Amino acid sequence: MSAKKIAIIGGGNLGTAIAQGLMKSGFSNAADITITKRNTDTLASLKSAGVQVEKDNAIAIRGAEVVIVALKPYNVREVLQEFSKEFRPDQILISVVTGVSIDDLERIVPGMAVVRAMPNTAIAIQESMTCLCFKNATEEQTGFVTDMFNQLGAAVSIDEKLMDAATVLGACGIAYALRFIRANIQGGIEIGFDARTASLIAAQTVKGAAELLIRENRHPEEEIDKVTTPKGCTIAGLNEMEHQGFSSSLIKGITASYNKIVKG
Ligand SMILES: NC(=O)c1ccc[n+]([C@@H]2O[C@H](COP(=O)([O-])OP(=O)(O)OC[C@H]3O[C@@H](n4cnc5c(N)ncnc54)[C@H](OP(=O)(O)O)[C@@H]3O)[C@@H](O)[C@H]2O)c1
Repeated sequence: MSAKKIAIIGGGNLGTAIAQGLMKSGFSNAADITITKRNTDTLASLKSAGVQVEKDNAIAIRGAEVVIVALKPYNVREVLQEFSKEFRPDQILISVVTGVSIDDLERIVPGMAVVRAMPNTAIAIQESMTCLCFKNATEEQTGFVTDMFNQLGAAVSIDEKLMDAATVLGACGIAYALRFIRANIQGGIEIGFDARTASLIAAQTVKGAAELLIRENRHPEEEIDKVTTPKGCTIAGLNEMEHQGFSSSLIKGITASYNKIVKG
């Protein structure tokens, strides 16, 4: 368990999910977490779990060793500017805010260890894929932050120039995967299952496929080869999907999302 005091500035969807994940995973004690927002009524369940709930960002920042900023992109600069004097050089500043660069953050709090993190919504169940990049961080600080996000799923360190790509593959990727599962459910209903059973079969099957890659470090094609009996039903279905542009449509969708971010 980490004994570090953690402040979460912006206790909305993501900030709350991070607090819950840190407690559930055992990484942090509830009493070591302080979470802020202007209307704290929505944080009642965290408060009753022992988390410090604060309206005053200055108090939260002062008492923390690690400050996680989970504000919306439109007010993060303004809020950080307002409280910039409260930060100390020994603290780590982690931003999960989309589109705010490490240099933007460093301009507000010069010289501090700053981390830009891109998690996804599965952080709510500690199954996020989180991409991280660091500036001014020591090896110990880098290790701490990586360990922290590993408690909330899996974390990987990337070059900041890949953050937009990480947003697409990791954060938007949740939606692509869910649409794939939904299509499987619809197909499953057409071939005879009720929606509930089709949903369970589709979701667990996708989970199993992902686990084969994650836990066993297998290559997708190696696993596909095991299922595709010559002249069998799997290869017939797969090839039909490819004739209809399955892989191509996914790749085009990923690049369309990416272009939307970089070109607007
Ligand atoms: N959701 C995701 O899966 C995801 C994934 C990757 C990155 N992100 C990024 O994470 C950030 C947060 O997203 P979200 O979905 O959690 O948004 P959200 O639910 O709107 O949370 C933002 C919170 O900030 C609080 N806030 C606003 N001004 C504040 C202030 N001056 N001091 C303290 N708190 C303040 C708001 O509450 P009050 O109005 O009560 O103050 C609100 O609850 C965004 O920048 C988003 O781009 C989200």
